[in-house]
Amino acid sequence: MRRALITGVTGQDGSYLAEHLLAEGYQVWGLVRGQANPHRDRVIEGVRVVEGDLLDQSSLVAAVDRAQPDEVYNLAAISYVPMSWHQAELTAEVTGLGVLRMLEAIRMVSGIGRAGASPGAGIRFYQASSSEMFGKVSEVPQNEATTLHPRSPYGVAKAYGHFITRNYRESFGLHAVSGILFNHESPRRGREFVTRKITLSAARIKLGLQRELRLGNLDAVRDWGFAGDYVRAMRLMLAQDRPADYVVGTGHMHSVRDVVRIAFDTVGLDWHDHVVIDPQFVRPAEVELLCADSTRARVELRWTPTVEFEDLIRMMVTADLERSAREQQTPVATPQEHRAW
Ligand code: NAP
Ligand code: GDD
Repeated sequence: MRRALITGVTGQDGSYLAEHLLAEGYQVWGLVRGQANPHRDRVIEGVRVVEGDLLDQSSLVAAVDRAQPDEVYNLAAISYVPMSWHQAELTAEVTGLGVLRMLEAIRMVSGIGRAGASPGAGIRFYQASSSEMFGKVSEVPQNEATTLHPRSPYGVAKAYGHFITRNYRESFGLHAVSGILFNHESPRRGREFVTRKITLSAARIKLGLQRELRLGNLDAVRDWGFAGDYVRAMRLMLAQDRPADYVVGTGHMHSVRDVVRIAFDTVGLDWHDHVVIDPQFVRPAEVELLCADSTRARVELRWTPTVEFEDLIRMMVTADLERSAREQQTPVATPQEHRAW
């Protein structure tokens, strides 16, 4: 039985990846931080919890030692781009240096890099790199060779994580890969990200729980896919004989305005009656456009996405309608509702 350790197991991707690896027969360990973490009940049933924090080197060494994983998936990060301007140093520590700490924990526990250790042997490592690193894009679409020009402290921290992962691969023969994933969403997406903010608001406005939706730049263009599809690519990357970095996305571009239009259409409302542009949600430096060229992933991993953009947004609205209707009937959330994001 293969053993996997997932950091960020309480997040969107961590939950889908845990389900996927359990279904594939893995023993799955999840790193959870904090003494009384309110997200702890998001850990998927069957996952073994180990405590630790990307800010704390010795906790990571202890976690790797306890889980004895064949594969480590480093999904933990401060992942909300606007927060990275307000807490830039913390973002660099967690999202950037946290990667180095995890790599060092693997090196310390497995002995990789010591004299006599065979290159490529031992624990395989997946780093959650991001299309946000492309930032002010130099070409459309973006592939593994596209120049990085990050536009946020988050993007800069991810670029550090990306390069230190590659460096440990080249320096120590570690089987370490970066998945450069484009935006991926689901009903489990955090409520601060634009798709979920829109689908939840459309549902709540329909049910009379909210009057308006305040947004920033409606012209921003992203390549949005379904998170459940993207975690399959993570496992496929670590299953390759030769470690390499992969871009993962759909290759289709849509604007924030498209998300708004489809979400409000799903609940039978005209978005013009409810959406207000609010400068507080406009970023100091914007990533205007992202679009993936996933040829390498499609050819080498045989990975393809299964959920179309419009179906994804409608899926999220439907889930938010059901959840909001339940909350309307039971204003005090039950443990199950807490659990259901
Ligand atoms: P998410 O839902 O925001 O989850 C982030 C996770 O990181 C949570 O489990 C959080 O734990 C954990 N975390 C934060 N600080 C930590 C720390 N100091 N120590 C340990 N754990 C910590 O993010 P996601 O959407 O699942 O994304 C997963 C990863 O992929 C992230 O690294 C993100 O930057 C990257 N990524 C995401 C996308 C996307 O579109 N979703 C695209 C490209 C790359 P708590 O529950 O304790 O807060
Ligand atoms: N969050 C948010 N809230 N975004 C808004 C809003 C708003 O009210 N109004 C407009 N937007 C625009 C943002 O300016 C941005 O251009 C776009 O919507 C997407 O914003 P997010 O959903 O917050 O995602 P992101 O692209 O900044 O970052 C996500 O994707 C990255 C991969 O490219 C995150 O998941 C990152 O962790 C991930 O690395």
